[in-house]
Amino acid sequence: MLTEKKKAIEALTRGLVLTNDQLEKVSSLLLHEFNCGLAKETHQKASVKMYPTFVQDVPNGLEQGKFLALDLGGTNFRVLLIDIEGDKFHMDNVIYPIPQRIMLGTGKQLFDHIADCLANFMEKEAVKGKTLPLGFTFSFPCKQEGLTKARLVTWTKGFRCAGVEGEDVVQLLREALLRKKINIDVVAVVNDTTGTLMSCAHKNRECRIGVIVGTGTNACYMEKTENVETWEGDQNDSKQVIINTEWGAFGDNGCLDFLCTRYDREVDEASLNTGKQIFEKMISGMYMGELVRRVLVHLVQEGLLFSGKCSVKLKEANAFKTKYVSMIESDGKYTYDNARRVLAELDVFNATPDDLENVKLVCSRVSTRAAFLVSAAISCILNRIKRPHTTVGVDGSVYRYHPYFHGLMERKISELTAPDYKFDLMLSEDGSGRGAALVAAVAVQNSQ
Ligand code: GLC
Repeated sequence: MLTEKKKAIEALTRGLVLTNDQLEKVSSLLLHEFNCGLAKETHQKASVKMYPTFVQDVPNGLEQGKFLALDLGGTNFRVLLIDIEGDKFHMDNVIYPIPQRIMLGTGKQLFDHIADCLANFMEKEAVKGKTLPLGFTFSFPCKQEGLTKARLVTWTKGFRCAGVEGEDVVQLLREALLRKKINIDVVAVVNDTTGTLMSCAHKNRECRIGVIVGTGTNACYMEKTENVETWEGDQNDSKQVIINTEWGAFGDNGCLDFLCTRYDREVDEASLNTGKQIFEKMISGMYMGELVRRVLVHLVQEGLLFSGKCSVKLKEANAFKTKYVSMIESDGKYTYDNARRVLAELDVFNATPDDLENVKLVCSRVSTRAAFLVSAAISCILNRIKRPHTTVGVDGSVYRYHPYFHGLMERKISELTAPDYKFDLMLSEDGSGRGAALVAAVAVQNSQ
């Protein structure tokens, strides 16, 4: 029998539980937004922008050479050196932290920092002075005007460097390299979703979709150019182009308001980009822990958790890290070792066994909702491209480290996708790094 307390907690978190009817509605709303983004007349006003990427082919397996790659836009900034030889990859990489003051500083500071890290890396790897081709993974919404021209439309995920929006980020990178006297050839700029698709497609010929569920969430897929009214590139033989959907902005026009809970609204209000990236804020790692924290604080205020006492730490914004969600859900049934550890980090020492179970319930409701929303969005693409079998390349910290995310997605996508369109989900092995190198390799091949 459910206790009164449990019933009250169930009721206060019920808004986080989505039915298949609701998810089907999400999927059909997204399809509508996709079409708005692709059509010339509606593109300007569309919230889901569907940017063509200028990548028109998946790798053919003949790519080779040594490449540098920069990966900016996830949890970490990385510099990579990648040696491709057919289907063999050799990769070295170094992670460089980006301090908060740079994330919120000026564009010049950001790109100078990137150039410094690259110089440091090249010295370490003994490739200083070599002119290697470089692929730049820049995982923010960009309007691409070519393979090496990408204008940042708006910052997302906690970055807000002045003077970059509206600018071509390759140009800004090249200027910084010049200032630092680094002689490097930037041959391609890609989104992390494109990198993920390319790196999976290199191993698996059926891969046509790349998805990220990490700090942010987004997807790209291979679309016929005849469906892309905004396509201004060559009408070459391939007649297809990878579209960066930027689905994180789904809901920015209010169409998902019917799903948003008070916790979603609070997270949005407190963010750097209120009113923007509504879908992303319901799903991705930058916000998942904070959503859980806000639910917990509400339950404490209602006297339903921790005897109504909230620690100072738990009241702090972003104190509940997204990795805590994965940790707590990794505890087996009726075991709470990680949950206890996490709560101790948050100075909560008085949790009863019921409290521990309820904290777990909140984590699972928030993460399951995220997995289901991503599933509805992937199923929208599968139902649209109508292929008998598609491999979906997936990467990102939430997908990688959450104990049930993959399984939840497999189940929900099957339920929401027409049975004729089979799929499988493939973990991308470091898509943002390898993918950038692969796009760079194709670019170098094509220019020779
Ligand atoms: C954000 C960015 C998008 C990126 C995604 C995943 O949504 O706008 O470009 O792909 O995060 O990193």
